[in-house]
Amino acid sequence: MNQILDQLESDLSGATSAKEVEALRVKYLGKKGSIVALMQELRNVEPSERAAYGKCVNDIKEAAAAKIEEKLRRFQEAELNEQLDREKVDVTLPGRRDRLGRRHVVLELLDEVVDILIGMGFSVQTGPDIEKDYYNFEALNFPADHPSRDMQDTFYITSDILMRTHTSNVQVRVMENSKPPIRAIAYGKCYRKEDISARSHVLFHQVEGFYVDEHVTFADLLSTLREFFSKLFKKEVEMRYRPSYFPFVEPGLEVDVSCFLCEGSGCSVCKRTGFLEVAGAGLVHPEVLKSGGIDPEKFSGFAWALGIERLAMLRYGIPDIRLFMENNRRFLEQF
Ligand code: DAH
Repeated sequence: MNQILDQLESDLSGATSAKEVEALRVKYLGKKGSIVALMQELRNVEPSERAAYGKCVNDIKEAAAAKIEEKLRRFQEAELNEQLDREKVDVTLPGRRDRLGRRHVVLELLDEVVDILIGMGFSVQTGPDIEKDYYNFEALNFPADHPSRDMQDTFYITSDILMRTHTSNVQVRVMENSKPPIRAIAYGKCYRKEDISARSHVLFHQVEGFYVDEHVTFADLLSTLREFFSKLFKKEVEMRYRPSYFPFVEPGLEVDVSCFLCEGSGCSVCKRTGFLEVAGAGLVHPEVLKSGGIDPEKFSGFAWALGIERLAMLRYGIPDIRLFMENNRRFLEQF
């Protein structure tokens, strides 16, 4: 009998799974098992010894059952632990947030610029993105075949329909339909056939402003722009004016403000000049007033335009204009 238990012991220690232990249970305790066979021997035992024999077999049976149970439990425990490990949930991981959409940083800044100008007395006017050559160029004193057209590489749709290259297209449209004093702004998308790089893109946004009345002077232009940029940057900014050429203004100038990224010391965004070009401006050319049906002997005006992407780059220290167009959520969520 003890041999049976020893044998069971060694069988159990060789078992590698709960299934194998179950098989051993059948082998030892099943109907045809070795312990049941011992029970059947009872018949052949002397009557005087039967009680002792029976008790002995019973003890063996219970001992065997206990060993099997014990082994089985260990396997089941190990299997359960394995399963729990597999299905483990790290409750300390932060949850996933619901994400709210937001307005694009360019549109936010555009709104801010427009709000400031409305506050300064300008009214909002609109013009089409798909424009006649006439309003985009001809009426603005860019004669056909004149080299000045090379300043703005253009997406043409037909020979006289194009994607507007600037918001200046709205100037003559407004002049045709109103009488001075005119204080208007126009804003929106502009398109140019440019090589896409860190500094230029085929699609960008401008805000155009213009003012036509009697006795409008260069001083009005300078003071208006100074007031506008100080409101926008919420402090007196350093500004610089450089003479420049645009066919629709005379004189024409480029307006620079000190570079916010490097604070004037020079970096790659400002091409190491310390200043960023933020606007073109000038006094409205007499030919443009004439195109708009306004008498240049009686009236004068000034005009300017800003690039919104460029302003956003300044304000937020963004080194590459392409980021605005890439829909990278990690970029956009910062604003
Ligand atoms: N339209 C010009 C451009 O996109 C910018 C510009 C320059 C607008 C001078 C103006 C101006 O109104 O006066 O390059």
